[in-house]
Amino acid sequence: MLSRSLGNTELVASNVVFGAWAIGGWKWGGTDADESIAAIRAALDAGINCIDTAAVYGFGLSERLVGKAIEGYAREEILVATKCGLRWDIETPTLHAESEGKRIFRTLTAESIHWEVDQSLERLGTDYIDLYQTHWPDPETPATDVLNTFEDLMKSGKVRAVGFCNSTASDIALGAASVGFCTDQEKYSALDQERNADNLPVVQEHGLSFLAYSPLAQGLLTGTVTANRQFPETDLRSNNPRFSQLSRERVAQVVSAIDLVAKDYDVSIGQATLAWTLQQPGVSHVLAGTRSVEQAKHNAAAGDVVLGQDALAAITQAAKNFAGFEVG
Ligand SMILES: NC(=O)c1ccc[n+]([C@@H]2O[C@H](COP(=O)([O-])OP(=O)(O)OC[C@H]3O[C@@H](n4cnc5c(N)ncnc54)[C@H](OP(=O)(O)O)[C@@H]3O)[C@@H](O)[C@H]2O)c1
Repeated sequence: MLSRSLGNTELVASNVVFGAWAIGGWKWGGTDADESIAAIRAALDAGINCIDTAAVYGFGLSERLVGKAIEGYAREEILVATKCGLRWDIETPTLHAESEGKRIFRTLTAESIHWEVDQSLERLGTDYIDLYQTHWPDPETPATDVLNTFEDLMKSGKVRAVGFCNSTASDIALGAASVGFCTDQEKYSALDQERNADNLPVVQEHGLSFLAYSPLAQGLLTGTVTANRQFPETDLRSNNPRFSQLSRERVAQVVSAIDLVAKDYDVSIGQATLAWTLQQPGVSHVLAGTRSVEQAKHNAAAGDVVLGQDALAAITQAAKNFAGFEVG
């Protein structure tokens, strides 16, 4: 399977990364531990070597499942990426979200990051994290302070490389000047491109990697979110305007263009979607949220699909014609 370096570091990650948010269950209608572990192992067996999780996914559960799944594999052959900065056990001036009875706060103080990294290492059952990322910026802590803390973590050997998520072009440029800083992780799909107009050129200019999150638009770009599909109340998609009937009708037009390409290449709609995303300028990796063995094999195989210019143009045009999500 195709792999690409993370920025200028020695870390090489498969172009399709296992996205481990959904297996944490929180916001995804619950989870099944055995199925999640089997999904991660199927992904590793199919050539995916990188797993993206976060402390807050399932309030530690996703990291624990990742830790269990990688037991028995050669640790040095796997890249474990996780994130810090969202705490559900303390209060800070910045409330990030309230969900399922929990209040989640942002913080990236040195004290908090040092505490969080040890918690993550314990849950992951490992003594180092390959890629440590800030999950969201903390308005109380300047990016330069965060980068100093990250440098300390790298010196201590707890972390091999670092990156930011949900960041700004100026913070990414600051990060690029730091040793070991190699990634920008942002929402990016055929339906969500506009937010990255600022970041992508900076990422390219500095030779960083761009990790596209939610590349399947949380299932919308797989063809499985039809008019009849219903989600449990605890699934974020149950009451999100992006999944309303009107939004689904509009997305269906993009999906039918992707379907034509998929049929031409004898792949699924989701695989054509991931392949298109991977061929966008500056996008180096896709983080595909995966929670079954079948999805794992399927998403891994997408990493080898290369679309020709006509196919790329057809999907790009359909994405341009997208009428947008219903506004909630
Ligand atoms: N840094 C951040 O703030 C941030 C935010 C969001 C995500 N992320 C990262 O990006 C990863 C992916 O994002 P995401 O989970 O939001 O969205 P996504 O990858 O766009 O969509 C994931 C969903 O699509 C469906 N799916 C996946 N593979 C499929 C297949 N082969 N066939 C049919 N359906 C399939 C699954 O839903 P069903 O099983 O329900 O069909 C899955 O839960 C996350 O796991 C996380 O690692 C990061």
